[in-house]
Amino acid sequence: MSYALETRRRRTFAIISHPDAGKTTLTEKLLLFSGAIQIAGAVKGRKASRHATSDWMEIEKQRGISVASSVMQMLYREHVINLLDTPGHKDFSEDTYRVLTAVDSALMVIDAANGVEAQTRRLIEVCRQRDTPIITFVNKMDREVRDPLDLLDEVERELGMPCCPMTWPVGQGKSFGGIIQLRAQTMTLFEPGSERRPQDFEALPLADAHRLRARFGAAFDAAMDSMELAAGASPAWDPAAFLAGRLTPVFFGSGVNNFGVLEVLDALVDMAPPPGPRRSTLVLDGQRVVQTVQPEDEGFSGVVFKVQANMDANHRDRIAFVRVASGRYVPGMRLKVQRSAKELRPTSVVTFMSQRREAVEQAYAGDIIGFTTHGGVQLGDTITDGASLQFTGLPFFAPELFMSVVLLNPLRAKQLQQGLAQLGEEGAIQVFKPDAGGHMLLGAVGALQFDVVQHRLRAEYDANVRLEGCQYTGARWITADDPAQLRAFTDAYPLRLAHDAAGTLAYLCTSPYDVRLAQERFPEIRFHPLREHA
Ligand code: G4P
Repeated sequence: MSYALETRRRRTFAIISHPDAGKTTLTEKLLLFSGAIQIAGAVKGRKASRHATSDWMEIEKQRGISVASSVMQMLYREHVINLLDTPGHKDFSEDTYRVLTAVDSALMVIDAANGVEAQTRRLIEVCRQRDTPIITFVNKMDREVRDPLDLLDEVERELGMPCCPMTWPVGQGKSFGGIIQLRAQTMTLFEPGSERRPQDFEALPLADAHRLRARFGAAFDAAMDSMELAAGASPAWDPAAFLAGRLTPVFFGSGVNNFGVLEVLDALVDMAPPPGPRRSTLVLDGQRVVQTVQPEDEGFSGVVFKVQANMDANHRDRIAFVRVASGRYVPGMRLKVQRSAKELRPTSVVTFMSQRREAVEQAYAGDIIGFTTHGGVQLGDTITDGASLQFTGLPFFAPELFMSVVLLNPLRAKQLQQGLAQLGEEGAIQVFKPDAGGHMLLGAVGALQFDVVQHRLRAEYDANVRLEGCQYTGARWITADDPAQLRAFTDAYPLRLAHDAAGTLAYLCTSPYDVRLAQERFPEIRFHPLREHA
């Protein structure tokens, strides 16, 4: 099969939701119905075994949150579907943001009783910034939930884009009768239970209205009325608007009852986009040139969107998760890390088949592969089989929370340094080394990141640290066109400067006025709230 054909049959999406909306359940059912797993419960099993082999995941267990994102691949209707999970907790939103840079669409799961909740709102914002197409699944229709029109209204308001219902519920909770398939003009009848396969649900044509009415009574008529209202208020299905992130198709169902799930799987194949082009910069004769990489381009390229310590606590290995952007990966290929121009020599290269990891045989644009390395790979790194290009767009946000690191056993200074460097490279936290010396500083977007880092320093590097509050409340990355201006600035603020894990200069502030004052004093200096890996 040609690269173009391989690329076109790939779908890479992230699943996003507020905790408890049913993301894990839906993930599991998607895997089940695509044939990727045989038995229900496997996804939860995967979670449990991960806990057992990884100390720092204790934090996840204790707090009942999902700290890390994971990747799963499935085959369905001749398509290769890559599913990327996102951490549910807001304190790991940076990680989530980076996962969202690696996907071509998102599946948003909403609890029909709660509507759009806080964490979903944040994730939506990120998708909106990137115009990521969003498919909406309204879950838990078997419970007493909100009126579907009301929910659509809320989704539209929160997403800032119109909804286009694809299925419509008849009743809810105890009276939940099933869903109307708007296009097929049939009604799929609900039966509770988690054993049933999607094809086992009975379907009746809407033309059989008297039979449906006899069976579901007033709930059927009410559903027909509200469906008509919804259809009247929604735009017609427009694939181009969906792909541009300006329209979301909405599906109703009950994940735990296997109901309405196949429709989502089909939507991923029929509606969600295959991998698209990606922007990169190319260095030609010392000049940076913006270049678009097409997924079917011959040369292999990919970008590291996540680095994770190996789950096996006995190894210091790390897995770099790479989203393939173009070409084909095959084992034995010689690869180069663009930033360092060094050859990448992974100890293994894996693909993520539901709960297993397998050696990669080949991978194309859209696929996620994991390179196990001992270091030398950072978040945002571009990996190619030769071409000198660097993908842009993987952001680091200026932290808003800072702590200084006090090592309790000075004999472990080397381990602490190594730990901080590696955790910084992973993006678990941002690490700043003050130019004026003194304790290292940790910068986070969410407070839980500090807990994770403190725990991991102890568990993985045997470095016991105390984290102390400090006066900083923000940071800005600094650039200037004129080196003399930059020197004047660094001379003026020697105590406020630090370098981050990537060696980029940053200005630390103690209040929002700081930046304004410094900017007024040095108008030529640029203060960046976001650093893109480039
Ligand atoms: P999350 O990953 O988004 O956090 O949610 P998860 O799938 O773990 O689901 C959260 C809870 O909601 C689970 O119940 C799950 O069984 C339930 N759930 C998921 N889908 C549906 C649905 O369609 N209908 C109903 N009624 N419940 C649903 P739990 O009691 O927390 O866990 P468990 O003991 O059932 O596994």
